[in-house]
Amino acid sequence: MILVTGATGTIGSALVSQLLARGEEVTALTRDPAKIEPRPGLTVTTEIAKVRAVFLLAPASPAAPDIERAYLRRAIEAGAERVVKLSAIGTPDEPTDSLGGWHQPGEQAVRESGLTWTILRPTTFASNSLGWAAEIRAGNPVPNVFGDGRQGVVDPADVAAVAAETLTGAGHEGATYTLTGPELLSVPEQVAQLAAVLGATATTVDVAPTREMFPAEIADVALAGTELVRAGGNAIVTADVERVLGRKPGTYRAWAERVFGD
Ligand SMILES: NC(=O)c1ccc[n+]([C@@H]2O[C@H](COP(=O)([O-])OP(=O)(O)OC[C@H]3O[C@@H](n4cnc5c(N)ncnc54)[C@H](OP(=O)(O)O)[C@@H]3O)[C@@H](O)[C@H]2O)c1
Repeated sequence: MILVTGATGTIGSALVSQLLARGEEVTALTRDPAKIEPRPGLTVTTEIAKVRAVFLLAPASPAAPDIERAYLRRAIEAGAERVVKLSAIGTPDEPTDSLGGWHQPGEQAVRESGLTWTILRPTTFASNSLGWAAEIRAGNPVPNVFGDGRQGVVDPADVAAVAAETLTGAGHEGATYTLTGPELLSVPEQVAQLAAVLGATATTVDVAPTREMFPAEIADVALAGTELVRAGGNAIVTADVERVLGRKPGTYRAWAERVFGD
C-alpha cells in the first residue's frame, strides 16, 4: 500500500493516477474525501493507517515542517519502510533561516527517519502558468514578476512520474534529485509558446515584485524567491528526470499542447 499525501493537489493527483496505472494499491490522504473520485485500487482516507511507502507533500507555507513531521511519524507507526519527499529546488542541506527553510526541516526529518528515503527538489512547475491562458485569450498582457530571469520549467507529470518510480523502483535510496525540464525559459518565452498553442499573440508587462503581492504568511520567502529568479539565480537545468525515467523530460510547449491543445 502506497500512501500519497497532498493527493488532491497538482503533483499528488497525477501521482495517484500514475501509481494506479502501474497496478499499485494506493491510499490517498485528504482532509476532504469528497474531493476524490473512487477508483479500483484506490482507498481515500483522512487518517494514516497501514502503509508500506509514503509520498510526503505539504503545501508551501511555514506550516510545512510540522505537517510533514506529523505525517512521517504516523506513517512510521503505520509500518512505512520507504518515503519520498517532495521538496523544492535550492533547498539547502543544512538548517537556515532564509529561502528553503520550509523544506529543509522536512528533508532532515526524512533523512533521519530510519526509512529508505528519496528527496525530490523540483523547479517551477509548468502548471504555475495555467492562469495566463485567460489573460492571453482576453488580449491582456501577462504580468511578469521575473523579468528576464530564466528557469528550467518542469512538467508536473514528470515530477509525478519520478515520484512513482522512486516509490516503487530500486536504486534511489538516499538520492536527492533536482527535477527540471529540458530547457531554460523566461516568462516572455513561456508566454510566446503558450500563445502559439492558443492561436493567439501575447505580450507581457514587467511588474516589480513587492511583499504585498503575496499572502502575508509567505511574503518574505516568496519575495526572496522571486528576486532570486529575476537575478538569474534559478537558471538551472539538470539531467535528473532522465536519470530516473530513462527519457528526456517533457518541454513546456508539450505541456501547453497537452493542456490547451485541440
Ligand atoms: N508550484 C511550484 O512551482 C513548486 C515548485 C517546487 C516545489 N513545489 C512544492 O510543491 C508542493 C506543492 O505541491 P502541489 O502544487 O502539488 O500542491 P497543491 O496543488 O497546492 O496541493 C496542496 C495539497 O496539500 C493539501 N493541503 C493544503 N493545505 C493543507 C494543510 N494545512 N494541511 C494538510 N494538507 C494540506 C491539500 O489537500 P486537501 O485539501 O485535499 O487536504 C492539497 O492536496 C509545495 O511543497 C511546494 O513547495 C512547488
